[in-house]
Amino acid sequence: MTTRFTINGRPVAVDVEDDTPLLWVIRDDLGLTGTKFGCGIGMCGACTVHVGGRATRSCITTVAAVAGAQITTIEGLDPAGAHPVQQAWLALQTPQCGYCQSGQIMSAAALLKDFPTPTDQDIDAVMSGNLCRCMTYVRIRAAIKQAAAAMGGGAS
Ligand code: FES
Ligand code: FES
Repeated sequence: MTTRFTINGRPVAVDVEDDTPLLWVIRDDLGLTGTKFGCGIGMCGACTVHVGGRATRSCITTVAAVAGAQITTIEGLDPAGAHPVQQAWLALQTPQCGYCQSGQIMSAAALLKDFPTPTDQDIDAVMSGNLCRCMTYVRIRAAIKQAAAAMGGGAS
């Protein structure tokens, strides 16, 4: 059946089964391939997008569950790709292979809404569900603190 929602500010209507994972719709139907498939069971964070501003695992979210919602993917986080989190990621050369990094950035951007001055414990608690096979965790933590500072917060 048809499900309508807004993605990156654009209203869309998709005609798929209600239980289709949002991740498939984002990648296959809408062609937004910045959001990645990792585990498919909500355990790695590669598929993280924002639904209503909250970090959400799109692989375990059905398309029916987001009817009428505002969704943001990595492509829509900032019109110029220059969100403070993205700028900090670039400045600190955070990615290695890069596969997990869209999800890391989306989780980090959501984290900074809740914790404008994040501690190491805040970062670890929120980001522990985003796995990185390349072990970039130290740079991710540093980049989150740099982004927080740039946004007027800062590490505490
Ligand atoms: S692909 Fe969604 S959490 Fe791993
Ligand atoms: S940068 Fe390679 S999996 Fe994270």
